[in-house]
Parts: sequence; structure tokens; C-alpha cells
Amino acid sequence: MDLSMDELRVFIQCSTNQALLVTDDKQRIVMCNSALTSAIGKCVVGETLIQAFKLYDPASKLHNECEKASKTGRVPKLRISVYGRVRESEYEMFRLRAVDTGETMYLLHIKQLLSKEEPTILQQFAGSLMKDVNLGVLLIDADFTLIDISDMACRVLGLNKNDIINTPMDRIFSSVPLEHRLVQPSLLEGVIVRNHAVSWTNNRERYELLLDSNLLKDFMGRTVGAYVIFKDVTNLRSLEEQVQRSDRLAMIGQIAAGTAHEIRNPLTSIKGFLQVLKNSFVESGMEKEKSYTDIMLTEINRINELVSEFLLLGKRKNVNFDKMSVTAVMSEMLPIINNEALLHGVTVQYESASDAPQVIADREMLKQVFLNICKNGIEAMTEGGVLSISEKVDMDERKVHIDIHDTGPGIPNFVIDKIFDPFFTTKENGTGLGLSVCQRIIHDMGGTIRVASKGFGTTFTLCIPIL
Ligand SMILES: Nc1ncnc2c1ncn2[C@@H]1O[C@H](COP(=O)(O)OP(=O)(O)OP(=O)(O)O)[C@@H](O)[C@H]1O
Ligand SMILES: [Mg+2]
Repeated sequence: MDLSMDELRVFIQCSTNQALLVTDDKQRIVMCNSALTSAIGKCVVGETLIQAFKLYDPASKLHNECEKASKTGRVPKLRISVYGRVRESEYEMFRLRAVDTGETMYLLHIKQLLSKEEPTILQQFAGSLMKDVNLGVLLIDADFTLIDISDMACRVLGLNKNDIINTPMDRIFSSVPLEHRLVQPSLLEGVIVRNHAVSWTNNRERYELLLDSNLLKDFMGRTVGAYVIFKDVTNLRSLEEQVQRSDRLAMIGQIAAGTAHEIRNPLTSIKGFLQVLKNSFVESGMEKEKSYTDIMLTEINRINELVSEFLLLGKRKNVNFDKMSVTAVMSEMLPIINNEALLHGVTVQYESASDAPQVIADREMLKQVFLNICKNGIEAMTEGGVLSISEKVDMDERKVHIDIHDTGPGIPNFVIDKIFDPFFTTKENGTGLGLSVCQRIIHDMGGTIRVASKGFGTTFTLCIPIL
């Protein structure tokens, strides 16, 4: 058969369901089509048959074998290695002459290479990655549409696979503000990420993820899509944070123990003499001076409260653990919470657990936790906001969950990691001790505090073991 090189190229590229290649008579592969490339996962142009398939027979010998076989009615077969696995494949081989160069060429058609029944190692590897319980995988095409997603990614991201396959990524994550999205469209422009730490909150839980992404290119170097792989490192991160926090708390404890009394003693005498002064002002009718002493006394009380919280953070105070119902404690606090809400023009909704579970706690401390967290929620909202408190009992885990949700602006990602740190505050008059004290109290009860916030509204969840 006489063909020009261009005609040959067009011919093999048009045969999309046959694995075809062309070699010169020195065994070097000069062309291969896309069907072959996708079946073996690489382009073999420029390689020899030995390099590409560990096929040691020269093309001329393969051609002779093929001719002989067809004359005797046998099916010609060759042994090739694909992905390290040796297989016998039927083949056809034709000798050609390139009319433009005069060279002898061989056209090789490898049969059954495209057969689906036997997955290649690469396909098996891809399949097991998608099922790996520890790995989140997202496969995206060049139009930024989701092509496949692993089971673990669905679970962590709170998505249902059937609802999102072949859906544009923008639509899947449309409820999340652009800057908080797990995958950015700029990925397809080559903005790939490595070891990128992301916090993700699905409907129930907050996860710390470590994310890698990269582009997928075809053998011509064109971008055909991208993939994202992530691992859940929540436990690792919280362990790391706990160690850091314990270090900080231990340090604060030492300072607190050393200085708290030294601060309190002079305060007591200042307070005593101020009260004497106040009485003298009252007796001599000096109203203005009396009002100054009132302000000074209020401020001294504030310092006293601060020092008490400081002490609570640093070392264990005498605690009175007792059996009590969470609902009863919350109900006791409700008038105070409602009062605070009224001042800010927000409403409070409370849904108690019907079967009021008993927990072991220090009543005053538990009240302090409820008040601190509700106060934070109320302070975060503008007029018209709603603070919803709801209790749920999980008999399997033997825990009561108390969700305290506000409709405030939420907590930005760069702040959320710090809110439990002592002295971290974004408020002009805040001490930043509220949440760290709450965390210490709840941890001492064997419980946990979690926070979920995605740019609108915040939910603090307290989990307390029940009896
Ligand atoms: N519900 C919430 N919505 C938005 N931000 C919050 C919420 N709860 C806490 N925060 C953030 O966490 C920070 C720390 O809270 P924390 O209760 O420890 O201290 P504070 O409220 O600032 O001070 P204090 O409790 O002494 O008044 C707050 O300053 C605020 O930025
Ligand atoms: Mg607070």
C-alpha cells in the first residue's frame, strides 16, 4: 500500500476504536492514534517497540509471522507488556511505503487492547482511590464540572453523589461564599495547591482538611481537567491545638497563681477606703463626688471578676459536682438570657429535650457556660436576630447535645481557630476569657465544645456526657 505520511496520519487518527501504531523498519514508532494512547495511558511516539511494549521481535518479523498465519488460517498473536503485565494479543500488520519519503513502514493493529473486561492496574488503582475511606478525591473536567467524587469526600463535604455528578462545581457549592469554596475555578488556569489547610463545615461537623490539587493533561499537553485530593486531619490538628493550649494555660496558671492574690489584697483595701469616702460624700451632700466613687467601685468589682476568671483558667477551683438536669439549669438561666436579648433587640427560642437527661456538673459553672455562649451569640447579632437553643439526647453516644445558634455574621475562617484562646477578643470591651473558661469547664465535665460557622450564623454545640 502506498500512502503519503499525512494520509497515513489522518487514517490512523480517524480510527478511534482501533489501537493503531506505525513503525519504521528499524522498530521506531513514528505515529500512534488516541485509542492506543488512552488504552495504555501514554503516547509512545519516538519509542521503540522494545521500550514501549517490551516487544523484541523486529517489525519485519512480526509482519512475516502475520502473513504466514493468515495463509494457514491461524490467528496471529504477539506477546506485549502493558502496565508491566504480559498479555497475548491478536494483531494485524501491514507493510506500507511512504510515497513522499520512499521509506518502508509497518502499520500495527493491536486487537483486544481496548477490551473492557480486564481492568488495568491503573484503572484498579483509580477505582480503589475512589473507595478509600481515608481519602477525598474530586475529579473535574475542563469546564469545571464534577466528573467523579470519592465516597469519603461526599461524607465529609455533606454531599450526595447522585445529586452532583456531572454538575458544574459553581452550582454544587453555590451556597458557600466564593472565597470559602474548597476548589477555586483558577485551578484550571494552573493555580494548583499543595498541602493547603482548609476548614470545612458540613451540616453537622467541622473538619480540618489538608488539600492537594493538580491539572490533568493529555499527551499533547492540553488541560483536560483537574483533580483534588484531601485528607481529614481534624484529629491531628485538634491534638496539636490541645497541646499548645495546655502549654499556654499552664503558663497562665502559674502567672495567675502568683499574682491574683497580690492584685486582690490591695484591691480590698482600696475598695474599703472608697466605701468610707463614699459615705463621707453622702453625709456632706457631695453628690458629684459620690457618683465618682460609685463608678470607681463598679470598676473595682470588674477587676475582681476578671481576677476570679483568671484563677479559674489557671488552676482548678473547688467544684461541686452534682446530678442535675441540663434543661433545669438552662431554664434557670433563661430569664437572664432573655433580658440580655431584650437589650439587643433579639429574640430567644428554646427547645428543650422532652426527656430531660441528668448530667454530672457544677451548677454555677454550667450556668456560666450557657450565659457566656448565649451572650456571645446575642452580642454578634443586630436587632431582629434570633438565638435558638435546642437540646438533643443521643442515647447511643450517651451524650446530650446543646446547640446554641445565632443569626449573626458568623466567624471568619482566620478567626475561628483563635476564639478559644485566652484573651482573644474582637470586642472593644471584651476580655477574651469567656470561651476559654467555657472550654475548661466543659472539658472538666468530660464534654466537648464545637463551633460551626460558614459566613452566616454560628452554632456552638456542647456535648455533655449523661448519667
Ligand atoms: N456567636 C459568635 N459570633 C461571632 N463571633 C463570635 C461568637 N462567639 C464568639 N465569637 C468571637 O470569639 C471571640 C472570643 O469570644 P470570648 O467569649 O472568648 O471573648 P469575648 O466575648 O470577646 O469577651 P468576653 O466574653 O470577656 O466578653 C469574640 O471576641 C468574637 O470575635
Ligand atoms: Mg464572650
